[in-house]
Amino acid sequence: MRHYLIALLSIFALFMVAGTASAAAPAAAQECEGCHGPNGVSPNKDIPIIAGMSAFYLDGEIQAYQKGLRPCPKTKFPHDPAKPATDMCDVAKKLSPADATAVDKFFASQKFVPANQSFDAKLAAIGKQIHSEDCELCHTDGGSVADDDAGILAGQWSAYLQETFKEYQSGKRQIPDKMKPKIMSLSSDQVKALVNYYASEGKK
Ligand code: HEC
Ligand code: HEC
Repeated sequence: MRHYLIALLSIFALFMVAGTASAAAPAAAQECEGCHGPNGVSPNKDIPIIAGMSAFYLDGEIQAYQKGLRPCPKTKFPHDPAKPATDMCDVAKKLSPADATAVDKFFASQKFVPANQSFDAKLAAIGKQIHSEDCELCHTDGGSVADDDAGILAGQWSAYLQETFKEYQSGKRQIPDKMKPKIMSLSSDQVKALVNYYASEGKK
């Protein structure tokens, strides 16, 4: 009888361990995944991949949305078109501080999977040059690492990045002071080259 009980208890303990490993997704992440895809790996070109970015970066962006420092385009849930469209400002404002911390930690712990998209190799080579001169200092390793707390550019969806440059250059999204002169001086051809470079890195 005792052995039976011990066996039962150890099976229970195993379940607990397995449970903590797979239950990493907090309840509040479910709404996010409805747009940003499973584990934050967005299959949709207009919605950024958020998996694997640093929790610090994600926290900062959620706060920016809460304060209205980033534009909030109304977006439909790609897999549930019947659900009413919402936007990042509404989503961020509804998050409690504890939920924001939990979802940011969860997405930061997921693996960034680069978008599968085409690019122009000639433009990518020009973009690589611009990046190494003006952006690499903060967007380390071609913008591919999370630790620099500046997002992940390598392998992000081109359509999202193109839109982001538009938001920065039109003053609709607040730009960090030190990045501002670099972004504001880019021509539209240079922006295109950079976007192609970041797309090319996803194919490495
Ligand atoms: C209705 C769709 C939708 C939902 C739901 C949604 N998002 Fe978003 N999210 C977007 C879109 C679209 C953008 C890009 C907006 C833009 O152009 O700035 C975005 C941008 C972001 C960004 C900025 C990414 C970057 O690279 O700077 C973060 C972080 C983010 N969302 C986190 C979340 C979290 C966390 C949740 C859940 C609590 C969530 N989102 C729910 C559509 C959604
Ligand atoms: C002095 C450091 C610095 C430099 C130089 C810099 N950046 Fe940034 N960049 C940042 C930081 C920090 C962020 C996070 C911004 C935020 O909080 O809005 C960022 C964000 C971005 C984003 C938004 C990412 C997202 O997921 O939405 C893009 C795109 C970007 N930078 C492109 C560039 C390009 C292209 C260059 C060079 C022409 C450049 N940056 C130079 C620090 C820098």
